[in-house]
Amino acid sequence: MLTYEENELVTKTTPGTPMGEAMRRYWIPALLSRELPEPDCPPVRVQLLGERLVAFRDTQGQIGLLDEFCPHRRASLWLGRNEESGLRCIYHGWKFDVAGTCVEQMNEPADCSFAHKIRTTAYPAREMGGVIWAYMGPREKLPPPPSFEWTQVPESQRHVSKVVEECNWLQALEGGIDTSHAPILHRTISATTSKAGVPLLGPFVRGKAPTLEVDVTDYGYRYAGIRPLEDGQTYVRTYHYVMPFTQIRPQQFRFPGSGERSKIAGHFWVPMDDDNCMVWNWMYSFRDEPLTEEDRLERGSGNGPDHVDQTTFRSLRHKGNNWLIDRQVQKTDTFSGIDGINTQDRAIQESMGPVVDRSKEHLGPADRAIIVARRLLLQAVKTVSEGGDPPGTGTSYYQARAIEKILPQGVAWRDALLAEMYAMPEPVAAAH
Ligand code: FES
Ligand SMILES: [Fe+2]
Repeated sequence: MLTYEENELVTKTTPGTPMGEAMRRYWIPALLSRELPEPDCPPVRVQLLGERLVAFRDTQGQIGLLDEFCPHRRASLWLGRNEESGLRCIYHGWKFDVAGTCVEQMNEPADCSFAHKIRTTAYPAREMGGVIWAYMGPREKLPPPPSFEWTQVPESQRHVSKVVEECNWLQALEGGIDTSHAPILHRTISATTSKAGVPLLGPFVRGKAPTLEVDVTDYGYRYAGIRPLEDGQTYVRTYHYVMPFTQIRPQQFRFPGSGERSKIAGHFWVPMDDDNCMVWNWMYSFRDEPLTEEDRLERGSGNGPDHVDQTTFRSLRHKGNNWLIDRQVQKTDTFSGIDGINTQDRAIQESMGPVVDRSKEHLGPADRAIIVARRLLLQAVKTVSEGGDPPGTGTSYYQARAIEKILPQGVAWRDALLAEMYAMPEPVAAAH
């Protein structure tokens, strides 16, 4: 549990909040590259950490990420004209380049123009892996680029999507670093159902409740859920938590009978404001194994076009319609009765209310990864408030891979898996 004050501290990220200051030290996924498909295309609204922004791609293809509201009299620049290397407000014709410099004022005679004195908030942006990333912190603290391994593989080997979730970012993240819920909430309860879920007969569900082991690193931590199987072997599923909002999880066993694949997936849970977050979903192959069309449709996860409006990025199953829970399916096919694995996650997390009151929880050993993440986040807030650099602003996470395996009796997971959990010869050392 957290005290009321700790809970406020760690969940709120609007400008001026301590967690907001810490989170502004990282590159933040802002929008999909495909939302700005070509130079001078329509601008797009973006909400990050309680700030309303507008993104545009200028004539040269550069990305601008500006305060949504014009510094003249605060009209929305989303209504603006994206033309000749700048975004022009349609109220009085002030125009801004990607750096936020006012380059023209149509409502002032040339000899009265004070455009050179006007700047609007503009955040550095960069494109990587089909995503436009923003940096909203102090310029002198700009971290190295967010080169997660998935952003570096060919496009044929990766996929990324996003969906709005109607709750605070931290309870969404906490679902993603909680292995213990996954084979419960997401299981199918029939071996023959066509509904998506963790297979009833696979090792994830067959295994007993897990023991969690967490190794803190300089980017966050890696952890393993260790599940004894009935034959004495263990099913080990490893994850990474990259601060502040990234989960990396294995996806090598996901479908029964599909054999072992070289797939890894993950999420970012990015605060839009304190009561809403954008869930980013990505998947890639770390070997030369292109993703299939089926992978890209994300039917099982509930993150694809069948489940999420690709214009608004709102889920078709949401709090307002009780996630379309089907009580008959809950009796016969899946544990939850809700369609789509990540829809199930969003339902659970949204069901807690906008910001869960962590002073009322009762945590156990199965919640260990969550407890450590909270500790790291609170420490990061303190570090930043004291002028230091928080974990995860280096480059050591670039190589992090999540692996799952069935290990013979008596084999320790670190001996068997640690080398494979990094795309380099030496694993990242655990912090002490
Ligand atoms: S409000 Fe934008 S130019 Fe006047
Ligand atoms: Fe889940």
